[in-house]
Amino acid sequence: MILDPAAFRNVVLDGALVKKGMTSFKHLLNADDIENVRAHFLALAAAGGPAPASTVPQHAQ
Ligand code: HEM
Repeated sequence: MILDPAAFRNVVLDGALVKKGMTSFKHLLNADDIENVRAHFLALAAAGGPAPASTVPQHAQ
């Protein structure tokens, strides 16, 4: 899925899995945004997973 730009776009932009509970993000993201998100996910996967929690910016409490 994440390796296939068209498949990823079908789910995130066109709502291919809406019936299974995965909403479309068409109102928030365009095709370029979605390709950038996919590239970001690929980079995270290549790095071995998400950044450790300690590196994630903390919101002001
Ligand atoms: C409130 C936020 C979200 C909810 C509730 C949600 C929910 C879901 C659910 C339930 C599925 C599984 C559908 C199935 O049974 O096949 C799914 C799959 C998926 N979601 Fe989301 N999702 C969210 C956000 C996102 C975002 C932000 C992205 C990407 C930008 C994304 C990308 C995907 C993709 C690509 C799949 C398919 C994974 C695969 O089958 O390999 N989702 N989502």
